[in-house]
Amino acid sequence: MSHSNWKRLWLGLLGTGLGLGLAAPAMADWALNMPRGATAISNEVYDLHMLILGICCLIAIVVFGVMIVSIFLHRKSRGVEPAQFHHSTKAEIIWTVIPILILVGMAVPAAETLVRMEDTRNADITVKVTGYQWKWRYDYLDDEIGFYSTLDRASNAARRLNSGIQPAGVDNYLLDVDNPLVLPVGRKIEFLITADDVIHSWWVPDFGWKRDAIPGFVNQAWTLIEEPGTYRGQCAELCGKDHGFLPIVVNAVTEEEYAAWVSTQVASAEDQQDENQRLWTRAELMQHGQG
Ligand code: CU
Repeated sequence: MSHSNWKRLWLGLLGTGLGLGLAAPAMADWALNMPRGATAISNEVYDLHMLILGICCLIAIVVFGVMIVSIFLHRKSRGVEPAQFHHSTKAEIIWTVIPILILVGMAVPAAETLVRMEDTRNADITVKVTGYQWKWRYDYLDDEIGFYSTLDRASNAARRLNSGIQPAGVDNYLLDVDNPLVLPVGRKIEFLITADDVIHSWWVPDFGWKRDAIPGFVNQAWTLIEEPGTYRGQCAELCGKDHGFLPIVVNAVTEEEYAAWVSTQVASAEDQQDENQRLWTRAELMQHGQG
């Protein structure tokens, strides 16, 4: 490469670095690490992630340190003669036993968390989650409440080509739904996750897990949310052309708010049922048809 080409390359790299550096503060929730999440399990997952990342970094420092020091101290210009041995049982035992111990040390705490994650027994509330192209359905099995949850109208309008609506102007663009899943805090919620057409995956990062929603299978998961709030997620399994428009919103509310929400949902479902079973008069039907 000629001198001027090198200069251009370095200037280009410098410019890119500066650009990224200046752009970083503009990205509101720019974060490198995983979120801690909103549940005890998600915190355990985070701690495991940090522990294992630490172990990996330590191994990298030790291995690369030994390599760099060895290369430096035993370089040819110092007149070092290379060793000539071909086999060392001692070395092989050491480099087998140490990694096994490290792996077992990582597997024990990870398995403990996995066992807790899979333990869906003694749940207070069970919600069946069904994935569709492209909506979620939530059925509260204890209360006979069920509804669909789809992308909110504002995002849906803005996502269309030539809609004239700027996505930047839409709050929580592609991350909002019409009917969020409402759950109480402090209660163990069991999820039964399935799908009706193709494979989807139900994922709320703050809960610390995701579960595939597979037609013909029921996958189990559970959560216990500690703080009231809005927790957002998305479908995490490519499920067709609108996969990117399949958000999840969980509204975590207090126990009292949840009870009030359940009773309004049940009442409106009963109203709807009464309405469906009512015999319509001819005049009413004609008026309805006109409408
Ligand atoms: Cu999907």
